[in-house]
Amino acid sequence: MSNRRDFMGMALGAFTGLGALGALYAAKRTWDPLPSVKAAGFTTIDVSKAPENVLITEVWRGKPIFILKQSKEMVEKAKNRPISNNSKFKDIDRLIKIGNDYYMVVVGLCTHLGCIPDYRPEKENFLCACHGGMYNSSSDVIKAPPPRGLDIPPFKIDGTKLVLGEEGPEYKKLLADGITLPV
Ligand code: FES
Repeated sequence: MSNRRDFMGMALGAFTGLGALGALYAAKRTWDPLPSVKAAGFTTIDVSKAPENVLITEVWRGKPIFILKQSKEMVEKAKNRPISNNSKFKDIDRLIKIGNDYYMVVVGLCTHLGCIPDYRPEKENFLCACHGGMYNSSSDVIKAPPPRGLDIPPFKIDGTKLVLGEEGPEYKKLLADGITLPV
């Protein structure tokens, strides 16, 4: 009897273990970075396979970089929201257009004191647990204390690829318009 119980316990343990492995694998698929190539301070990322409203985290020069492909609804909202501290522009101006799609591409460090904000896809916003600061899905600040939206790293667009570390014309315009600060 005890042998049978042991066997049932082992079988159940193995089954639970397999289930946990499956869940981990599914989670890992979500965390997997997009195909990227790193060389001499540049990181090239092909964003064409990015799913909508799923945060992708890359690393560039030791900093976390958040990439969030916007859904059509997110883009429509961003078109109508003025940037919190630069009302000449709308949140859509913080997004990067690659092909027909829009992407939020930012350094994933809170502009208050540098914690890493957490993306909440169901609410389409970021919460910084350190002091409760919040950002919307265009990474504009929606709740203090952060003084501004998340900073946009230097980038260049190359077809469906994003080259982090190179200053393309779109990035230079963001700097000139005061939409982001140099990183
Ligand atoms: S570090 Fe993010 S709210 Fe303070």
